[in-house]
Amino acid sequence: MQKNTITLTNNATGENYEYNILEGTRGPAVLDIRTFFADSGMFTYDPGFTATAACESTITFIDGKKGELRYRGIAIEELATNHSYMETCFLLLNKRLPSKEELTDFDLEIRHRAFLHRGLQKLFDAFPDDAHPMATLSAAVTALASFYDEHISIDNQDSYLEMAHRIISKIPTIAAFAHRQSLGIPFMEPDINLGFTENFLTMMRAYPGGKMHLSAAGHDHIKEVEVRALDTIFTLHADHEQNASTTVVRGVASTGAHPYVAISSGIAALWGRAHGGANESVIAQLEYISSVENVEAFIEKAKDPDDDFRLMGFGHRVYKNFDPRAKILKELQDELRTELDLDTELMAIATKIEEIALNDDYFVSRNLYPNIDFYSGIILTALQIPKSMFTPIFVIGRTVGWITQWIEFRKDDTSKIARPRQLYTGA
Ligand code: ACO
Repeated sequence: MQKNTITLTNNATGENYEYNILEGTRGPAVLDIRTFFADSGMFTYDPGFTATAACESTITFIDGKKGELRYRGIAIEELATNHSYMETCFLLLNKRLPSKEELTDFDLEIRHRAFLHRGLQKLFDAFPDDAHPMATLSAAVTALASFYDEHISIDNQDSYLEMAHRIISKIPTIAAFAHRQSLGIPFMEPDINLGFTENFLTMMRAYPGGKMHLSAAGHDHIKEVEVRALDTIFTLHADHEQNASTTVVRGVASTGAHPYVAISSGIAALWGRAHGGANESVIAQLEYISSVENVEAFIEKAKDPDDDFRLMGFGHRVYKNFDPRAKILKELQDELRTELDLDTELMAIATKIEEIALNDDYFVSRNLYPNIDFYSGIILTALQIPKSMFTPIFVIGRTVGWITQWIEFRKDDTSKIARPRQLYTGA
């Protein structure tokens, strides 16, 4: 009978170690080496976890070669085109899409939970005016843990969901407050008459009293197309399997810390330029390049092995043919070109970079394609969202993914404290 195992041989001693191959429902199988240290006295070495599966999960599936992304088995294209971000949140948390009634209840609950305790609001005053909203966001989410101490010891589905709904609904309020704090303008309370995405845009843009900018033609208003674009961006960011920030969230979960502290740690991890911070860097880079004529010189810089300049928004650890989220955003960008007035100099620079890089051997041979961040910045700029808020927008979309992963970790009987080993080379 064919054995579903792999045998490792130590060529110095001739000892053999046999390990089971575990098959998932999709994607590569994994070799179960949990007893390898006990068997051999050796560790395995895999910096950056490029070949290591650290958990079993049913939440998100990615096939990087095919450019495939699914939440709970449903293709991202289907969710981004035919479902709202609220439906996507329900799907991630409940493993299925909601009925019409369930969606109404969920949406209403999220609206009602969006308010912040007055005590928490005082925290924002402690930050300097030019504080980056990611710093404020991460600190405020840690502070939120102290208002809901009971979430540290939850162990049943109703409590998991209450805890998750609370953080999903408060994150946009915290993010918008962080933004308004950085401008020194009064906070805008959530409005229960508005859905998740429109409410966030309103908290970002409205003047005290809730009205938008006033001109001779009357008050501006938030356009439906703007809500749709941002809602799609939230859906595309909702989860992404075991990426760096999610790995941090699971790592903090593994110590038994409060779930909101785990989310705060995820926010800190996401901030870096190699991860969620890239969306801010893409626009900063396009502004720095400043004109279409300069594009070729910067492409040459990106290709120069002696120059550490990288094209922001290009490349991905997992996607090696295309990022399906980037493809959806590119289509959305093309569709919204006129409606959102996207034909700016930045757009022209981005288009030129894309044209050159997609046909240049350096990028093609290294499988470097535009990732989600390459396109999201242009759309967010058209939505009047400042650069410093791009990564907080990513946080708003990703919170549901982090908290769903936290719950999955907590419910998994095989979960252990995250404690990797090392290859010691010191004195
Ligand atoms: N511009 C120019 N060259 C690049 C780029 C880039 N954006 N990305 C990778 N390379 C080159 C590297 O220099 C390296 O070349 P070499 O083989 O000649 O040494 C090769 O491509 C492989 O690069 P790695 O860094 O080994 O690839 P890795 O998979 O570890 O990194 C990462 C992926 C971090 C995303 C990288 O491509 C990068 O820094 N991109 C720019 C930042 C960015 O857009 N991040 C957002 C990621 S998506 C997200 O988090 C939502």
